[in-house]
Amino acid sequence: MSDKERLSPDYWTPEGARPRLFLAPMEGLGDRFFRQAMSELGGFDEACSEFIRVPKNAHVASLARVYNSIETAPIPIAAQIMGEDLDHVAAMTIELVNRGAPRIDLNCGCPSNTVTGRGAGSSLLRTPERLHDIVKAIVNVSTVPVTAKLRSGFEDTSLLDENLLAAQDAGVAFITLHPRTKKEGYAPPARWDLIARAKEILSVPVVGNGDIICVDSALEMLKQTGCDALMIGRGAAQNPWIFHEIRAHFASEPSPRNAQGVITFIRRFQSLITDVMPVKTQVNKLKQLVNFLFGSCPDKRKELLRMRCSDPSDLADVMVLELSGETR
Ligand SMILES: Cc1cc2nc3c(=O)[nH]c(=O)nc-3n(C[C@H](O)[C@H](O)[C@H](O)COP(=O)(O)O)c2cc1C
Repeated sequence: MSDKERLSPDYWTPEGARPRLFLAPMEGLGDRFFRQAMSELGGFDEACSEFIRVPKNAHVASLARVYNSIETAPIPIAAQIMGEDLDHVAAMTIELVNRGAPRIDLNCGCPSNTVTGRGAGSSLLRTPERLHDIVKAIVNVSTVPVTAKLRSGFEDTSLLDENLLAAQDAGVAFITLHPRTKKEGYAPPARWDLIARAKEILSVPVVGNGDIICVDSALEMLKQTGCDALMIGRGAAQNPWIFHEIRAHFASEPSPRNAQGVITFIRRFQSLITDVMPVKTQVNKLKQLVNFLFGSCPDKRKELLRMRCSDPSDLADVMVLELSGETR
């Protein structure tokens, strides 16, 4: 049985015509507290851990401990690996599968120079043969589906086709494409035409990712690219209720932005970070969210970011108060 066949048709259309919805991995922003608060709000079908870096000479069993397969239960959470050494990624795969990972994803997109300098993350996009070999090393030892998350290239998109086909030939069950190069970072609009290109040349399913921020952009991505499923990252930090809105659209139900849902998310997030990190870090974490949640109200955002507070719950209260205005 191939990896692709292990993912049933139900996997791709969980409820009739609705596409599968993935919460994107976001190291630093989408940490375990964010994911847990998001999963309690629900709406998405699957999450993915941020990358677990596997350097050469790593003690993989210790590194694998950061992965918790029941963190977002009952929503499944895949484990993402980032590495450049065949033996180490294989060893990490075995560890993560033993820890209950339902899917192993290879990171081929991280732009960090520290990582790319060592040949991992987006650096793999410079050498499709190497990308193939790394995926193969994971597929060879994995008893669960293996997938890859790619950017559209390193410097430019000239190797896109080769990279996509290399991952497919090595046995991935599907590919997620974030259509920006490493050089582009996060700035220019994501090139959805490249997701359409991936659909054209691949036989494995393609998950479209990049710049989905509302129901309309989700529908537009599906229409323009023909992708099989959607992955949302920053759009979920801007509006944690976005997955419910997309679901409501496909269920032909009204789907207003639900401020109450966002408030529940903030309260839960704040309670999860309380007592597990220094107060200053808690405030910084909440301010990181302010940047996204209040992105469309620059004045309000500035005011909240300037707020001095020795108690993080004060900041959470003000955020909630501001959002409560939307519920009235
Ligand atoms: C703060 C941050 C951290 C990220 N960390 C990861 C990561 O650990 N693994 C990964 O594959 N992609 C990572 N990404 C990329 C996102 O998963 C996603 O591909 C990208 O943000 C585009 O999707 P979006 O427009 O929906 O945010 C990160 C993005 C951001 C903004």
